[in-house]
This record gives sequence, structure tokens and C-alpha cells, in this order.
Amino acid sequence: MEFIQNSWYVAGWSKEFSRELTKMTILGENIVFYRTEAGAVAALEDRCPHKLLPLSEGRLIGDDVQCGYHGVTFGCDGNCVRVPGQSVVPKSAYVRSFPIFERHNIVWVWMGDEDKADEALVFDLPELSSPDYAPHQGNPLHYESNYLNVADNLCDPAHVSFVHPTTLGNPEMEDLPIESEINDDGVVITSRWTRDAPPVGIFQALANFKGNVDRWQYYIMTVPNVAVIDFGSADVSENITYERRAEGVHIYAIHFLTPVDEYRTIDRWMHVRNFALDDKAIGGNMNDLFNVAFAEDKVILEAIQVEERRPSTRRPLRIAIDKGSNLYRRRIDELIKLERSTEDKNLTATN
Ligand code: FES
Ligand SMILES: [Fe+2]
Repeated sequence: MEFIQNSWYVAGWSKEFSRELTKMTILGENIVFYRTEAGAVAALEDRCPHKLLPLSEGRLIGDDVQCGYHGVTFGCDGNCVRVPGQSVVPKSAYVRSFPIFERHNIVWVWMGDEDKADEALVFDLPELSSPDYAPHQGNPLHYESNYLNVADNLCDPAHVSFVHPTTLGNPEMEDLPIESEINDDGVVITSRWTRDAPPVGIFQALANFKGNVDRWQYYIMTVPNVAVIDFGSADVSENITYERRAEGVHIYAIHFLTPVDEYRTIDRWMHVRNFALDDKAIGGNMNDLFNVAFAEDKVILEAIQVEERRPSTRRPLRIAIDKGSNLYRRRIDELIKLERSTEDKNLTATN
């Protein structure tokens, strides 16, 4: 399986990084992370170029990592600073270092060509800096399923009635139409409105609606790896519109997908809400509600992955609700082809 390399991926929440050497696999690459004495996150290839011991088995000395086998030592830029037993450092004594960007308590790593690592490309949501909204980070979800299956699920408002009947869906929504489009920035937006229906479980738990509500769901997928689920409800009498949705009970559930390898994905998710901003307990309560739903997704996504690996001669059935995920997968294919053709050009230029 090919991955899009030239992209920022979430390596973790800020609190996951410390002066400990922490190993992670992202896009099939083993990486060791740590914080320097000044507090910046460093990321190095987790493999000593000498006898291949992972550097995460070694130790941190100041800002340098000393290999746990023969003590060859690398700085946070990946350059070798010491080879015990000799004064000359061979040219081949280095490890790859990965560009890092940290904002909103989220640590991003750039997996592609270092020259292309543009911090302006890091995903942001204005509400993450707004005093009218409160963010709350959830626990990382480890799925035994590849990221395309996870992304499909996050371009898919239709599954909630069937998979999440107690939290995010209800039968009133089952047959309502879904709109899907890809905008000029290559963002895939799949949406559905449910007008004049009882609130779904999560809004019954979080808001004090007396009667029926209007409900919106916008699944906004920034390819390849950030899904924003912009959803909420408002009393029918408000006749809410997308532009005025901040007047309703409004939640963003943001999912950052980090492929571990061909068969595994970490989904780091957080939510951002516009109600009960000072309520310290509500973030955790919302996590509990979301975790009910995500445990339901996990069962499905992992079962799909098992089936995908078994031989089949049939082409999958495609139905109307798939348009969002089809647009997403087509965009992924385009970006991978583009990366491959640029790489081919670079190779030709250096030959
Ligand atoms: S394996 Fe790292 S120094 Fe020998
Ligand atoms: Fe789901």
C-alpha cells in the first residue's frame, strides 16, 4: 500500500511527548520522539545505521540520543556527534530527522520530502483559537484497519442510524438524502440535514431540548488525514441554517488519522463545543458518549479489514451514500500519482 508522504500527520497530543524516548510507527516507518531540554519535540529515524539497534533502546544525553549498543550518538538534527573509539565521524553516520510542528497541544510530523515541509499547510480550525468554543482531547483509538476504511467511515453520515443508534443516530434519519461534493481546495464535504425530528442520544444527554430539533451533519474531510465532523442541533422554532449554526448546540468532532502501516491506523480525536464552556466535567462526559460510538465503529472497521484480506472475485457493490468516500479515495489516488510522478522527475533530474 502506498501512502501520501508529503503531508503533515499527527504524531500525538503534546502531553504524549517528554524527555523519555518514545517510539512510534507512522506510514510503516519507525520513529523515535523526545523533547529537547528547551522543550521542542525531535523526531529521528528509529534505527542506528551501525548494527540497526532502534535508537529508542538507547538513552537521551542532553539533546542527543546515544545508541544502546556501541554508543554512537546523534543530535536532534540526525547528525552523528560521537563515535566511541575513533575521532573521525564517517559521512554515513547519520539518521533521518523529521520536521515537527506543534500547535493547539497537537504535535505534527512531516513524513515527506523535507524541502516541502511548509508549516502553512498544517490543518487549523479557527474555533480552536476562539473564546466561544472549548476544545477537549480524547484518547487515541487504535484500529486494526487501514486508514482508507477509517476515512470512509468519516465521510459517511449514513452509518450512524445503524451503528450508533443510542448516541449519534436514530431511525428518522435512515432514508434522508446525503449531499457530497469536493471543493476547490480538494476538501470532500458530505452533509445531511434532519429537520423536525427528536434529538439523537448525544443531544438528549447534553442539551435540554423540549421537543423536536433540526439537526445538521457536515463531514468535512481534508485529504488525506483530517476529518472534521461539524454537527449540532437547534430547536425547530429557530429554523437554523448552516451559516447560523453557532446559535445552536454546536460540536466539532475532529479526527486526525495516522496510518501506522497497511493494516493499522491511529485515530486521535478531539471535540470542540460552543456550550457549557466553564463546565470542567462535561469534556470527560462527552468523551464517554463518543467512546460508546467509537467502540461500535471499531468492531465494524476491524471486521471489514479481516474480510478485505480474504480473496474475493466480486467487485464491491456501490450505492448512492458512497459518493463522499468515492470522492475521497479518488483524490487520494490522484495525490499518490502526483507524488510518484514528481519523484520520477526528481530521479531523472539527478541521474
Ligand atoms: S548498533 Fe548503534 S552503535 Fe552499534
Ligand atoms: Fe461512526
